[in-house]
Amino acid sequence: MENIFKIADLCLHRTDINEKLLLTHKASESLSNNELSFANQVPVQSIRRVSFPASPALISPRNLPKRKLNSQEGKAAFFHALAHIEFMAVYLAWDIIFRFRDLPQQFYLDWLQVADEEAQHFELLNDHLRHFGLHYGALPAHQGLWDHAVDTSENLLARLAIVPRCMEARGLDVTPVMIDRLAEINDEKGVEILTRIYQDEIGHVQLGSYWFKFFCKIKQLQPELCYHSMLKNYFNGWPKGPFNRETRIMAGFSNKEIDLLEQGIHE
Ligand SMILES: [Fe+2]
Ligand SMILES: [Fe+2]
Repeated sequence: MENIFKIADLCLHRTDINEKLLLTHKASESLSNNELSFANQVPVQSIRRVSFPASPALISPRNLPKRKLNSQEGKAAFFHALAHIEFMAVYLAWDIIFRFRDLPQQFYLDWLQVADEEAQHFELLNDHLRHFGLHYGALPAHQGLWDHAVDTSENLLARLAIVPRCMEARGLDVTPVMIDRLAEINDEKGVEILTRIYQDEIGHVQLGSYWFKFFCKIKQLQPELCYHSMLKNYFNGWPKGPFNRETRIMAGFSNKEIDLLEQGIHE
């Protein structure tokens, strides 16, 4: 019997990319075969101990290669940046499992499914990168994505508000625009991959919304007010718009929450 927290431990503290992907898929397979234990028997470690592969080099966004889709180099940099986001999303899904314990079993089942889908997204993008003669790690990548995880490592409501309900929700705003741009340059494979990712990501944000509201209810907090206060206290700035209202509503946002996002930080 495999233990979900042991696998999470390995995925967060070992750096080999292929091993991480394999472990993630195997965990999901063990779950379908009823061979996964949820016993809380692996100690939680500080988020500072999470380790990342030696490449890509993580650098400030200012120094990243340009990602304009009008050149081969630009397209390669674009898909590399997306692969990096998905790679970090695998870490984020394992981290919410690893760090927050004694929750309903369904919580862990849901985020394991997310981890498995993020690993698939990464693989799709990494395969696509080969058309540009690249692989993940060949270019430097954005160092900031993990910061939100570190900032929210002690607070589950903050984690749910900031990671699925800000970072992943941002994907719902920008992905349709990216799909249109790829269609314009006839990158059919790129359109196919991003369409698949977009559909899965609606589900990830839905899960984020579901569990955010679930834990708000337990703590007798009003979810919209709680979301607003988490943004103020944990986001460091304010989420950028424009916001894709229709899809965000599908993913569990209320109109009031989107109004708050649009009104900005001074509200
Ligand atoms: Fe993803
Ligand atoms: Fe996701």
